[in-house]
Amino acid sequence: MATAAASNADYFDRHAGLYDDRASAQKLARRIGDEIMDEYHFDDETTTLLDFACGTGLLSRVLAPECKRIVGIDISEEMVAQFNARVHAQGIPEEEMHAIHADLTTNTDAFHDEKFDVAVCLMGWHHIASPEDMTRILSSQLNTEGWLFVADVKTLDGQTLEKHRDIVRHTEGFTEERMREMFEAAGLVNFSWWVVTKAKMDGVNVQIFLAKGQKEK
Ligand SMILES: C[S@@+](CC[C@H](N)C(=O)[O-])C[C@H]1O[C@@H](n2cnc3c(N)ncnc32)[C@H](O)[C@@H]1O
Repeated sequence: MATAAASNADYFDRHAGLYDDRASAQKLARRIGDEIMDEYHFDDETTTLLDFACGTGLLSRVLAPECKRIVGIDISEEMVAQFNARVHAQGIPEEEMHAIHADLTTNTDAFHDEKFDVAVCLMGWHHIASPEDMTRILSSQLNTEGWLFVADVKTLDGQTLEKHRDIVRHTEGFTEERMREMFEAAGLVNFSWWVVTKAKMDGVNVQIFLAKGQKEK
């Protein structure tokens, strides 16, 4: 069986060109972006943001007006190409916003020692092999007192996200308890978790949570 990373890279490489046409993905990025902006005091002159599993940049583009610098990272080369093409088309300098193609679990210096004020991940958590490991990695990329925000699928009652089992490694979604445990194990404090909105994924009604935690002093 292919690794989670390889299956995802292959799938999203093939779907990158059409990803932004999905009205539901755009709507969700706007909704979660608004929620994150309500939770964190962004400053467009100072705030630096890491967008993990950034895809084509739907969430980054919602948050961009509030940030000084955004670096996206994704396992799919084509999603990253779409992200950077849109940034380039808008005339935004690369040092203000760009995405890199890398596997953070194996490339430990993807950001060349840069740390960030905020790290976000929208709908990436259910794709990755070990969310626990990734929480630790993203926590290590945060400045002291920086925040990690993760939005994904809340545990499903009796249903699972079966349709894309090859790329969805957590077909049952996530409980608040599991999210809290992984955040705390990664040195993130002031944890909170709540349901933000509903969505439909491949015919399954899901609830989308937002979890947040702060890097310890
Ligand atoms: C459902 S899309 C979400 C994209 C974007 N965050 C958004 O909400 O529009 C999932 C993304 O996760 C990326 N991904 C999957 N596994 C990954 C991994 N191990 N490391 C980085 N990105 C990954 C995929 O390539 C894809 O771009």
